[in-house]
Amino acid sequence: MDGQSIDVRKLTPCIGAEISGVDLARPLGNRSFQVIHDALMENLVVFFRDQELTHEQHKAFGRRFGELHIHPSSLSVVAEHPEVLIIKADEKSKYVAGEEWHTDVSCDLEPPMGSILYIKEVPPDGGGDTLFANMYRAYETLSAPLRRLCEGLTAIHDGAPVYGGRFGQTPKAGGFPRNEHPVVRTHPVTGRKALYVNRNFTTRIVGLRKNESDALLEMLWRHSETPEFQCRFAWRANSIAFWDNRSAMHHAMWDYFPHRRMGHRVTVKGDRPFFRA
Ligand code: SIN
Repeated sequence: MDGQSIDVRKLTPCIGAEISGVDLARPLGNRSFQVIHDALMENLVVFFRDQELTHEQHKAFGRRFGELHIHPSSLSVVAEHPEVLIIKADEKSKYVAGEEWHTDVSCDLEPPMGSILYIKEVPPDGGGDTLFANMYRAYETLSAPLRRLCEGLTAIHDGAPVYGGRFGQTPKAGGFPRNEHPVVRTHPVTGRKALYVNRNFTTRIVGLRKNESDALLEMLWRHSETPEFQCRFAWRANSIAFWDNRSAMHHAMWDYFPHRRMGHRVTVKGDRPFFRA
C-alpha cells in the first residue's frame, strides 16, 4: 500500500528527521504525502537520501505541497525552469547562497512556506553541511517578560542589503522586497509560536530606537543560534532537504572553498506571517 514502507527517523530530539522508503521521482500518493507532511510539521526539516530526480520531478514533488515560488531577484535559475534555483559554489565564488542564518526570502510579503534543496555534487573532502535551527524552541526558551515584549513587536525584513549589497544582483521591476512581519509568528498549521527574525533579512524592529533595535535583534539572533536548538545535515550526492521556513531557519556552511558543491532548489509559496495570541 502507498506509504507503508516509509520510515521516519529523528536526527535529534529537537529538529530534523531522515525519511527512507520513498522514491520522490514517482508521483506521491496521498498516504506518502501525509507521512512526509506530518514528519515535516513535527521535525521542521526532513531529509531523503539516494534520490534521482529530473527538474520536472523535483517541481512535481514541490507542487504536492503548494504553488511554486519564483525568486524575486536570483539570476541563477535553470533554463526553462524559473522555479528551479541553482545553488552552486566553486573556486570562482565570491559568496554562496545562505551562508548566514536565515529563513528563505523573509523579505517577501508572503515568504515561502518551504524549500526543497536537492544536492547533486558534494565537495571531495567533506564540508558544505547545512545547519537548521528550531525557532519554536527559540521562542519558548525566552523568559516570560521577553516573550511578552517580542509578541507585541514587528520588524522590517529587507532584501536590498542581501541581494543588492552582498550578492550584487539587480532587482526585478519594483525593487527588492521589503516588508514588515511580526517578531513572533503563529504557525498556520501547528498553531505554535516561533521567533521570526534572522540575521540575513531583519534590519530593524519597528517603534524602537536604532540602538535598542540593534541590541534586541543581536540578542534574539544569538539566542536562536543556540547549538541545542540545531541539527546539522551532512550531504551526500543525491540527498534532499525539505525545510519549513515558518518554524526553522538555516545556515549553509561554506567551509569547502575552492571545491565545488552544486544542487537545485525548488521553493513552495507561503502566506503572510501573522501573530495570534
Ligand atoms: C539555501 O539557503 O537555500 C542554501 C542552503 C544550502 O546550500 O545548504
